[in-house]
Amino acid sequence: MKVTIVSRSGREVVKGGIVINDSALVSDLQKEIHARVKKYYPSRQRLTLPLATGSRERPSVLNPKKCIKEYAEGNAEDLTVVFKDLGPQVSYSTLFFWEYLGPLIIYPIFYYFPVYKFFGYEDERSIRPVQTYAVYYWCFHYFKRIMETFFVHRFSHATSPLSNVFRNCCYYWSFGSYIAYYVNHPLYTPVCDLQVKIGFGFGLLCQVSNLYCHILLRRLRSPDSSGGYQIPSGFLFNIVTCANYTTEIYQWLGFNIATQTVAGYSFLVVAALIMTNWALAKHRRLKKLFDGKEGRPKYPRRWVILPPFI
Ligand SMILES: NC(=O)c1ccc[n+]([C@@H]2O[C@H](COP(=O)([O-])OP(=O)(O)OC[C@H]3O[C@@H](n4cnc5c(N)ncnc54)[C@H](OP(=O)(O)O)[C@@H]3O)[C@@H](O)[C@H]2O)c1
Repeated sequence: MKVTIVSRSGREVVKGGIVINDSALVSDLQKEIHARVKKYYPSRQRLTLPLATGSRERPSVLNPKKCIKEYAEGNAEDLTVVFKDLGPQVSYSTLFFWEYLGPLIIYPIFYYFPVYKFFGYEDERSIRPVQTYAVYYWCFHYFKRIMETFFVHRFSHATSPLSNVFRNCCYYWSFGSYIAYYVNHPLYTPVCDLQVKIGFGFGLLCQVSNLYCHILLRRLRSPDSSGGYQIPSGFLFNIVTCANYTTEIYQWLGFNIATQTVAGYSFLVVAALIMTNWALAKHRRLKKLFDGKEGRPKYPRRWVILPPFI
């Protein structure tokens, strides 16, 4: 069959189209496009079916695992697909690695090096025990997240736009610097010992629980990341959909109880808002996927992220 590939403005992306085997998959077509236009590697391509002029519907995206022939109406020998360039892409592990590496390096710089001299504090800095525990706690957290990225998570999305690396790095690196500056500050006033112990103790418990939640999520997919979305269960997932976000938020709460800075609490609020937004979308998606109809299981009643509120 012959496939004509056009841009959204109707311009032909591959001159003369591509003649492809009837049994070829959409992914084979993507490879053919890449062979002809080198910069468009498969994960950079979004292929959709054309919409009728003036239609306000969302175009349906071609599934790379499906046979291209399935999209040709009435088994026609010609098919037109609309091509969108998604821009340069990076793998999810690359994205996560760079966003976590920043805070892992920046925070200890404020603790170990005499950076406050550049901010006008010339005197020798006396380091409080809470500042030492905080640097270990912080580094453990980001080191854990990098390890989870490479050895625990089984991502379903192949790639993310390169622009997300810059956006996410801005978020993590700037908040990391902001918090590091205030927690390690020469004029920092610690809270009482008991509060420090409660904060870090609770926070560590939540970090370990967060790791366990990620291991439970990993078990929902096979090693090649197939298996789609499943109903998470076990441990805190029996009561809350995004238990990994719940424990993430609580571990930052623990850090803030122990260190108590405006910078740290600001990060907690922003992170909680972001994760709540994502958790609502994930909860909706799971309820839609597992609607209890046509033999599909019904998604159980659960909190979304922060019981007993949401
Ligand atoms: N501090 C912050 O601002 C902040 C913000 C976000 C996240 N985080 C931390 O980073 C961690 C990872 O974040 P994330 O947003 O990638 O978490 P996530 O979407 O919940 O998922 C973690 C992994 O589990 C998979 N997964 C999730 N639900 C699944 C299901 N129902 N069935 C099968 N697989 C499922 C995901 O697959 P997919 O690839 O398909 O999604 C992903 O590979 C969080 O748990 C949290 O600890 C921190």
